[in-house]
Amino acid sequence: MTQPALSHDASPDLFRATFAAEVRAGLMHTPQKELPSKYLYDEVGSALFEVITVLPEYGVTCAEERLLAKHAADIVAHLPHDVTVAELGSGSGRKTRRILEALCKKRPTSYCPIEISRSALQLCRRELGDIERISIVGYERDYLAGLAEVSKDRAAEERLLVLFLGSTIGNFGRLAATRFLREIRNMLTPGDALLLGTDLIKPTPVLVAAYDDSIGVTASFNLNLLARINRELDGDFPLDAFEHVARFNPDARSIEMHLRAKRAVTAHVGAAQLTVSLKAGETIWTESSHKYRADEMPAIADDAGFVCSHQWIEDGWGFAESLLVAR
Ligand code: AVJ
Repeated sequence: MTQPALSHDASPDLFRATFAAEVRAGLMHTPQKELPSKYLYDEVGSALFEVITVLPEYGVTCAEERLLAKHAADIVAHLPHDVTVAELGSGSGRKTRRILEALCKKRPTSYCPIEISRSALQLCRRELGDIERISIVGYERDYLAGLAEVSKDRAAEERLLVLFLGSTIGNFGRLAATRFLREIRNMLTPGDALLLGTDLIKPTPVLVAAYDDSIGVTASFNLNLLARINRELDGDFPLDAFEHVARFNPDARSIEMHLRAKRAVTAHVGAAQLTVSLKAGETIWTESSHKYRADEMPAIADDAGFVCSHQWIEDGWGFAESLLVAR
C-alpha cells in the first residue's frame, strides 16, 4: 500500500493526480475497499493526530516520551561516537529533543529531519533550533531518498543514527516492515544505527479503546480522510453516512481502522473520474497499526541486516525502543 510519497509543496498538481489515482485504485479494490493511510495527514488530520497523542486512551506517544526522557543518556552512551542524526518524519520534536540534547551535551551534532511536508520541516526547526550546539538541515524528500542524500552528504568519519520513532513502522504489514528496514539498511554502512520505536501488543480492549476514543477524536481523524477527498478531489461523500470502526485483527496482530457505510451509499470523486457504491455495512479500510512483542525484534533486525544491540522497554503502557546496528 505504500508508494513513494510526493511533496505537496514541491508539485501540487502531481500530488493531486497521484492522490486521485490512489483513491481510484483503492476504492475499486475488491473485495475490500481501501485507502492509503498516508493521506490521513493533511493539515486537519495532522492537527487531529496531535490531539490523539494526548488522549488518555492513546498511550503510545506518552509511553515513548517517558521512555526517551528516562533513558536518553543511556541510549546515547550506546551509540557510536560522532553521529549525525537523520529522522524519518519529524513529528512534534518533543521526543527527539531528549536524544538531541543528550548528544549535543557531548559534542556539536547535526540533525537532518526528513519529511515530505515543508511546513512540518519548518515547525521542526522552530521546535528544536534552540538546542545548544545543534545544526539542523532539513530534507524535503520521502524517507528513503532523503536518507540516501543524508548518507552521501556526511563526512567519512561520521556514523549515522537513523530515528524512526512513534511506532510508524506499525503502518507497514509485517513483511513490508522488514522490507522497509532492509531498504534503510541499504543506505547505511556497517556500524550505523537505527533507533526504532514500536508499540507492543497488549489486551484487545486496551488497543481498541486507543483507536476508538470516547470523545471521538480518532473517529474524526478517520472521517477526515473522506472529507479531504471531498475537498481536494471534488468528491461528494456524505460524511453522516459513515461511522468509524476500530477492530483488532488477531492474525495480523494489528488494529485496523475502517469507515463503515451505515446505509447504502453512492458517491463520486470528480478528480478520479470515479463513481463508487457501498452496501449498508460495507467498509473502507483506512489504516493498520501492527503491534509487536519486544522479543520479536532481534529476528526482524537480523532479517534486515542489523543486530539488535539494546532495547529499552516501557512496561506501564507497553512500548519498546530497539537499537539496531547495521552489520
Ligand atoms: C502515527 C501511525 C503511529 O498507528 O498509532 C493514531 C496513527 N491512527 N490513531 C498509529 C494513528 C489512529 C499512529 N501512527
